[in-house]
Amino acid sequence: MMMLTINKIEQAQHSLNEAEKKVNHQYRLGYHIMAPANWINDPNGLVQYKGEYHVFYQHHPYDENWGPMHWGHVKSKDLVHWQHLPIALAPGDTFDKDGCFSGSAVDNEGELTLIYTGHNYIDKELDTFFQNQNIAVSKDGITFEKAETNPVIAEPPADSSHHFRDPKVWKHEDFWYMILGNSTKKKEGRVILYRSSNLRKWEYVGVLAKSGGDLGYMWECPDFFELDGKHVLMISPQGIEAKGDSYHNLFQTGYLVGEYNYETNTFHHGSFTELDYGHDFYAVQTLLDDKGRRIAIGWMDMWEANMPTKEDGWCGALTLPRELTLREDKVLMNPVQELTSLRKTQYNMLTNKALSNSYVVEVNEDLLEIQAVFDLADCQASSVGIKIRGINNEETLMCYNLNEQKLLLDCTHSGKEDGVRKVALQAGETLALRIFVDRSSVEVFANEGQATMTSRIYPKESRLGIELFTEGGNVIVKELTYWNLKDIWG
Ligand code: FRU
Repeated sequence: MMMLTINKIEQAQHSLNEAEKKVNHQYRLGYHIMAPANWINDPNGLVQYKGEYHVFYQHHPYDENWGPMHWGHVKSKDLVHWQHLPIALAPGDTFDKDGCFSGSAVDNEGELTLIYTGHNYIDKELDTFFQNQNIAVSKDGITFEKAETNPVIAEPPADSSHHFRDPKVWKHEDFWYMILGNSTKKKEGRVILYRSSNLRKWEYVGVLAKSGGDLGYMWECPDFFELDGKHVLMISPQGIEAKGDSYHNLFQTGYLVGEYNYETNTFHHGSFTELDYGHDFYAVQTLLDDKGRRIAIGWMDMWEANMPTKEDGWCGALTLPRELTLREDKVLMNPVQELTSLRKTQYNMLTNKALSNSYVVEVNEDLLEIQAVFDLADCQASSVGIKIRGINNEETLMCYNLNEQKLLLDCTHSGKEDGVRKVALQAGETLALRIFVDRSSVEVFANEGQATMTSRIYPKESRLGIELFTEGGNVIVKELTYWNLKDIWG
């Protein structure tokens, strides 16, 4: 009898196509990157290639739960309208037996090169494994061939634990550089650096940054780049304890800002700051585009969170693309300008109006951008805010407490058990909230990215109202505008 070898990518694609037919659409997002069906996590391989933006993501095309990781793939001309492409990577070769884990992409003189981690179990039951780094190349940006020389880095340095993953590669002058998420044998999170002239042979340079003992046991998904004259290291540490309003998710994503010297591999940096204070923001990755913008996309979920869409045959999404800027060593995130092209009808609800209690807007759409601007200059109120996706204890609440100077996001009534998150925000004379609401997500950008909060929400379809409110005194609402937004998938 003849054995038929079915190509792994085709097989995965077939499974995905079948799964797509069964997806329940109630919480499907209208303008965010998702897979056609089944599980996704981290964004991977953000790159511009032949004039288009490509984004890959960790994907399990066979199930709505995490499993042997593949790379899913979308592309876009404008960072707004995305198109699904065939699955790019499937695991199962000798060097990536049990998963093609997170990584990055570069355009190497017309050859799109993916650099990713091979995950290989020694004993799956005991969760013992080894990890290595591999590459795959493509000339058309659609089909990828793994290099015959894989793995390009077979093992970690001698003082390392077996956690050795998530390569981010960039070019600086004559060399390619790669950083990896790593931990020491003593379980301290760190980022290590390699260097290469050809993407195939890598030389170990040393440690770029390391936990001083209080920043977790493992740093995942590092990214390192220049921003407005400084260097920024983004990391997703595991194992930081919650403290005050910080670190309330299972794992965190944040950054270190400082000065870096390529000659000596020294990075003098300040303290760790969280990048987004919502429930669902992790494993962020960035790219530098041809307009000179540093653009970040994160995974819009969190490990071990309640993910009700699994019952609908899909799970996981990516955040909106956000442009990064640096102000006084603080990284600000704002939605990329192109996203205004999602806007359909504009509704100007209030301009310079005194609000003494609340103002309710009946809304019939579930894809919205909202701009709410409060004048805090002579404001007697103790708190002001907005409810979306419903009112009367059925809502998602954003509230600014003027005494505490904190912005609060409360998703208790939209499907989050541990529903409240807070972030310190010195709003000054004006509080401007720019809010993107999708069918199961909310992204809040406060005062031009001074604070960002991203969470998945799971409201009932019928909950659509908006309410602006003030407590403890009047407030002048400078502006309340909203737009209903286009469904890019529908
Ligand atoms: C981060 C992460 C990465 C890993 C990938 C596996 O969320 O744990 O470290 O490469 O997900 O899917």
